Amino acid sequence: MVPRCRGVEGCLLSIFLSIIFLSFAANAAVKTYDFNIQVKNVSRLCHAKPIVTVNGMFPGPTVYVREGDQLLINVTNHAQYNISIHWHGLKQFRNGWADGPAYITQCPVQTGQSYLYNITVTGQRGTLWWHAHILWLRATVYGALVIMPKEGTPFPFPQPYLETNIILGEWWNQDVETIVNQANKLGLPPGPSDAHTINGKPGPLFPCSEKYTYALEVEYGKTYLLRIINAALNDELFFAIAGHTMTVVEIDAVYVKPFTTQAILIAPGQTTNVLIKADQPPNRYFMAARAFEDAPITVDNKTATAILQYRGIPNTVLPTLPLLPASNDTKFALSYNSKLKSLNSPQFPANVPLQIDRHLFFTIGLGVNPCSTCPNGTHLVASLNNVTFVMPQVGLLQAHYSNISGVFRTDFPDRPPTPFNYTGAPLTANLGTTIGTRLTKLPFNSTVELVLQDTNLLSVESHPFHLHGFNFFVVGTGIGNFDPKKDPAKFNLVDPPERNTIGVPTGGWTAFRFRADNPGVWFMHCHLELHTMWGLKMAFVVENGKSAEESVLPPPKDLPPC
Ligand code: C2O
Repeated sequence: MVPRCRGVEGCLLSIFLSIIFLSFAANAAVKTYDFNIQVKNVSRLCHAKPIVTVNGMFPGPTVYVREGDQLLINVTNHAQYNISIHWHGLKQFRNGWADGPAYITQCPVQTGQSYLYNITVTGQRGTLWWHAHILWLRATVYGALVIMPKEGTPFPFPQPYLETNIILGEWWNQDVETIVNQANKLGLPPGPSDAHTINGKPGPLFPCSEKYTYALEVEYGKTYLLRIINAALNDELFFAIAGHTMTVVEIDAVYVKPFTTQAILIAPGQTTNVLIKADQPPNRYFMAARAFEDAPITVDNKTATAILQYRGIPNTVLPTLPLLPASNDTKFALSYNSKLKSLNSPQFPANVPLQIDRHLFFTIGLGVNPCSTCPNGTHLVASLNNVTFVMPQVGLLQAHYSNISGVFRTDFPDRPPTPFNYTGAPLTANLGTTIGTRLTKLPFNSTVELVLQDTNLLSVESHPFHLHGFNFFVVGTGIGNFDPKKDPAKFNLVDPPERNTIGVPTGGWTAFRFRADNPGVWFMHCHLELHTMWGLKMAFVVENGKSAEESVLPPPKDLPPC
């Protein structure tokens, strides 16, 4: 409705009023950010080193946006590494160009160059995050991405008094790229990190760390929302707060049925929002994070801490530590994950695909391949259905969009080449894999069920799998071998958790479903950086639908060249 006007001034006034009216009606804003990739000297654990950062910050800046807004993030690369940034969990409808994984949806931004990530945030609200998506640069290049609900839409849980981000990470005293290069020359894994961090800080249990401790001041009686993000490279983590329970309300930017817990489990790539109430005797309490590892694998097992501090309590009071589950507490892990259920309310329904067009069964394995330059003639690799993914030289999305042949094949196997007892005794012979850039092609809007099956090739292990471009519904999980006859009957098709990253349990399987309604090329990989590097990854090509609205957008003019 545009108000009518009389006279010049009246008309100007009414035009002014209509502009205000229209901008409120549209309600969508454009949020712009400048991300300058720059090297900065940082010191932790008595060790200083140059690290790659965004705007000199570690962790990087938080991106705030409202559902429905447009985000324009200009990334300019002043570091010596080529770089790309991934907006982890953002759906990027038809717009893989802004997704970020290097050589999958774009070539990296070269030193001295810029790229504008043009993102429209639709149908999502909650906590996500962003990180570098090339080499191991995400060790220091990461930050939170907070999507507020639309104006006037409250959270489906009690409004918190304040909110804060809790970003869990890993710190190496040495230069991470150097460590990784040395390890790759040997064909072996690099050593574990030297500390975990909370908001970039390891906490006072580490040397030289008094001033590198994150503290959250709380007021007695108030409720706080913690946006917890696992930005660690290789470790699933437990997180707990001494004396306080947490109410889980959201995972991976999807609301869940709230439940109360002493500790949470969070895999690399995942986010968890919890409410805490400052209702305990005013004091100082440790928040703590420590690795969960129930396979015979060496991890960084040291505890990172931060402090929950009631207002008025002096800094001299020694905080108490929370009781974290034992580092190999499989039972806690399974029972915690089983409590996660979609809210599935009329406003936030769980649209689980019930008819499935394509059933996929992928085994997750470690392997050993020949390596002529490695000292023992072999190197460790990882594979899905015995395929170790080879990174292309140009972006897969460009190759798909422009029909460039010879870059990838679309014959990724739907099931393993030869079935075996996946989770029996450790298999230590015939560990070779095939290598290739092989993708799975999916018709637009088709429905997919994927069962990810861990194997005992070398060792069982828990693998957090992340799918770009979509959320999926985790309909089932179990220990041992997936039974296609019996297990589907037990699937939760009503309120399964909806997320973008799921931990496949050690020596077990996980089944998820999604609708391929987002055309483009979408990466799927283990979010343990070590395993991604070793080839535990593949991609889906989702074809265009019939109309232009169901097709990949044209590439932006400034898409980086290879
Ligand atoms: Cu958070 Cu492809 O990753």
